[in-house]
Amino acid sequence: MQTSEIARMVSTAKEYYWPTFARDASFFDLPTSIITSAEGLFVVDIHGNRYLDTIFGSGAMYLGYNHPEVMEAMLGQMKRVASQCTFFVPTPPAILLAEKIASLTPGSLKYTIFGSNGTDANETAIKIARQYWKIKGQGTKYKVIGRKRNYHGMGLGTLSASGHMFRRAPFEPLMPGFILINSPICYRCPYDLTYPECGVLCAQELRRAIEFEHPSTVACYIGEQTIGGGGVVPPPPEYMKIIRDICDEYDVLLIADEVITGFGKTGFWFECQKYGIVPDIITMGKGIGAGYGPLSGTHVKSEIAELFKGKDAFQHGYTFGGLGYLAAAGLAAIEYVERHNLLARATELGTKIRQELEAIKEGSAVVGDVRVNGVMAAVELVKDKATKAEFPDRAAVARLVADVGLKNGVLLNCLTWYGDIILLFLPLNTSDEELGMVFHALAQAVAEVERRFL
Ligand SMILES: Cc1ncc(COP(=O)(O)O)c(C=O)c1O
Repeated sequence: MQTSEIARMVSTAKEYYWPTFARDASFFDLPTSIITSAEGLFVVDIHGNRYLDTIFGSGAMYLGYNHPEVMEAMLGQMKRVASQCTFFVPTPPAILLAEKIASLTPGSLKYTIFGSNGTDANETAIKIARQYWKIKGQGTKYKVIGRKRNYHGMGLGTLSASGHMFRRAPFEPLMPGFILINSPICYRCPYDLTYPECGVLCAQELRRAIEFEHPSTVACYIGEQTIGGGGVVPPPPEYMKIIRDICDEYDVLLIADEVITGFGKTGFWFECQKYGIVPDIITMGKGIGAGYGPLSGTHVKSEIAELFKGKDAFQHGYTFGGLGYLAAAGLAAIEYVERHNLLARATELGTKIRQELEAIKEGSAVVGDVRVNGVMAAVELVKDKATKAEFPDRAAVARLVADVGLKNGVLLNCLTWYGDIILLFLPLNTSDEELGMVFHALAQAVAEVERRFL
């Protein structure tokens, strides 16, 4: 683009485009705020600069951008039927994707109802849980237990189930019947305990909450397993098993939000498989259509879904839930992962990421914690490793991290919601060379933070 065109685009964006997630027009002063093309792991900004992305829509594009096989499948279906109102009729790719997903998930998980984003997948799940208990003649079970620092979406229901307090406050009061319990965040344990001596008290808190509310009132538990956007925080290995057992004991449906963690990121198709548990409902978004457009799914056990019939049929659906071209993209991506054994690659990448990040932590006075689960990782920066004190000006630290990243050709995202946490959500087909670029940029950024802020 010519300089004058760039200037016009930026000023038009500032005047008309309302940026999401609480950013203002100054966002468009960042050189990388407008992307013009992308391929593989790289994006090109409006100035023509090429950068390696490290976040991919929080793991949505799990094979990177514009993957040739995914594009071919998607464009092929688009040419056949560009769009159709999925209120009424599906296209073959959506049916085949539902079948494929059922073959990848454990236990009796079988049916998928499609939507168009992670928020509505979770709204759908909560509605299924509430109606399920009505169908079973236990309509007093309506409460939803979520977790602090988890995120399930922007709708009023999903926001009520989410524990990102800064996102809730402007819209309060939120919906009644939603309760939040602590999440397993060992680095900053809410009880100031240490794992494993803690006995995974945070999981036992679910029992206390159900008993306090009374089991006859609780419909479901909803949670991420590894917290994603809240700072990539994997649970202790036994945590989900304890949650599953408590849900079984009290007749509470377990909804696992796998909007980020689904589709191979943990080295398993779904994270629940890593812990050997079967949720009652898995919600999917982001990667379900390879991250190439708005598609989501609420995936439900057969013994639950099959109760929704006759007078109890599910009064629910979206105009564009399950668009065929996105389902075709999703199917092509799954086939690619299978053909190239990329679940194993995700595990291998996870091992390499852990080694590199541990080494960076070892040599740094500002890396307090590193967390890794497959291709998802976090580097938590602190002012004082002994006390875990955060930097007083989180935004300044985050800006510096991003600047150093850009100088090294890498988009580094340092989120400031819960401290300064650099997040990585890398595609399953990341090469060793690309991984090397990420670590080089990260090491430089961490060193610069130490130099400037300590
Ligand atoms: C775990 C989780 N659930 C749900 C959502 C909401 O998805 P969407 O933005 O597609 O509505 C997100 C979005 O980042 C998420 O990370």
